Amino acid sequence: MRIIMVGGTGVIGRPVADTLAERHEVVRAGSRSGDFQVDATDRGSVERFFREVGPFDALVSLVGGAAFKPVVELTDEDFERSFRHKLMGQINLVRAGLPHVRDGGSFTLTSGVLSQEPMPGSSAITIVNRGLEGFAAAAALEMPRGVRINVVSPPWVTETLEELGWDTSIGMPAAQVAPAYVECVEGSRNGETLDARQFA
Ligand SMILES: NC(=O)c1ccc[n+]([C@@H]2O[C@H](COP(=O)([O-])OP(=O)(O)OC[C@H]3O[C@@H](n4cnc5c(N)ncnc54)[C@H](OP(=O)(O)O)[C@@H]3O)[C@@H](O)[C@H]2O)c1
Repeated sequence: MRIIMVGGTGVIGRPVADTLAERHEVVRAGSRSGDFQVDATDRGSVERFFREVGPFDALVSLVGGAAFKPVVELTDEDFERSFRHKLMGQINLVRAGLPHVRDGGSFTLTSGVLSQEPMPGSSAITIVNRGLEGFAAAAALEMPRGVRINVVSPPWVTETLEELGWDTSIGMPAAQVAPAYVECVEGSRNGETLDARQFA
């Protein structure tokens, strides 16, 4: 398969891309890094990107970025930026990518554990993650030509917890998130959200 990974250069994206590359052709993209550059928040940039990369069998998105703050501190701009980046950024990739995905291909998006297990400070991220999961469940009903769409929900990963100086015991190494993405790309699921901990 030819797999396009937007966010394939990040903390989780790198090991997922390395795992998929053992059996498939993987193209890695980021806003500044990777084989191709694309800004998922900019519809024009996304459309240019798909024209440049050409046809593909699977698109995996790990684009992220949402405000983590107590409700009383969240500004209009925090909400707007969270929706524009992680939520609409990933949805833009599906909308603009549909004409370029081959018959029977797939889209795999990324939400996160804060969807189903919120914590203080996560209200904006929780909306975004649940929005992505809801989008995939509904859009799966309309995908043409046997195309599938799913979401992977990673837990906190050890590398990120270390960087934040938080307790690493609640997370798992980024490499262990890879099997859930493999299941979405290589399996037959459609409209589902996979908790990555159940596939590690
Ligand atoms: N890390 C965790 O513990 C954790 C837990 C649960 C869920 N998640 C979710 O998992 C996803 C990946 O997280 P991560 O920790 O691996 O993030 P990361 O290390 O910050 O990587 C983000 C990736 O997305 C790319 N990217 C960022 N903005 C972009 C844009 N506007 N357009 C296109 N590409 C863009 C980055 O490339 P450039 O740098 O070149 O832009 C990079 O490849 C995110 O959705 C995050 O919310 C993470």
